[in-house]
Amino acid sequence: MDLYDEAIKMFRALLDRAMETDLPEPTAMTLATADGRGRPSTRTVLLKGVDERGFVFYTNTRSRKGAQLADNAWAALCVFWQPLKEQVKLEGPVERVTEEEADDYWVTRPRDSQIGAWASDQSAPLESREALLARAASYREQFEGRDVPRPSHWSGYRVLPERIEFWTAGEHRLHHRVCYQKGRDEWTVGLLNP
Ligand SMILES: Cc1cc2nc3c(=O)[nH]c(=O)nc-3n(C[C@H](O)[C@H](O)[C@H](O)COP(=O)(O)O)c2cc1C
Repeated sequence: MDLYDEAIKMFRALLDRAMETDLPEPTAMTLATADGRGRPSTRTVLLKGVDERGFVFYTNTRSRKGAQLADNAWAALCVFWQPLKEQVKLEGPVERVTEEEADDYWVTRPRDSQIGAWASDQSAPLESREALLARAASYREQFEGRDVPRPSHWSGYRVLPERIEFWTAGEHRLHHRVCYQKGRDEWTVGLLNP
């Protein structure tokens, strides 16, 4: 097993442990993107897939994050699982998931969430709450009696990590940090000062 596979395996083991706690959203991660001028912004997204191909989340591709990723296809993710006293952060280029992959995930979503994805012009100014609810009602009516199709602007992104760091709380602030880093030819691993 190479070092990258080892890091992914470690992440999955921690995620499994986090899922066993009573954390309400163990898959919630902070996603950082930056615009073309390098100005960062963050928000929470839910991790919907992780394997050796990378870390997947779903969103509106016309959102602010979507616009930033179109300008600058690079992102960072960070999760802190408080009950485990573990943090993982990773960084790397981002690519869109395939249409097929997005469709496969879309059909698993509750119908109301699908309607919500049509109703919300994510990140754009909203004239009123009533306007949003009216749009949701109108799409509910439009799609009545049939499957809700996936909007073309709703899809997934995959972060392909080039650096993955595991942080474990230690006594007296002497935390344990292990960093896996993609080099020119192969991955390396080493400790970092806390
Ligand atoms: C726990 C939690 C989970 C969230 N999961 C997602 C998600 O998976 N996808 C998404 O687009 N927004 C999600 N959001 C909303 C985002 O944090 C954010 O408000 C939205 O995506 C717009 O971000 P943007 O304007 O920076 O593009 C979540 C928020 C919270 C608090």
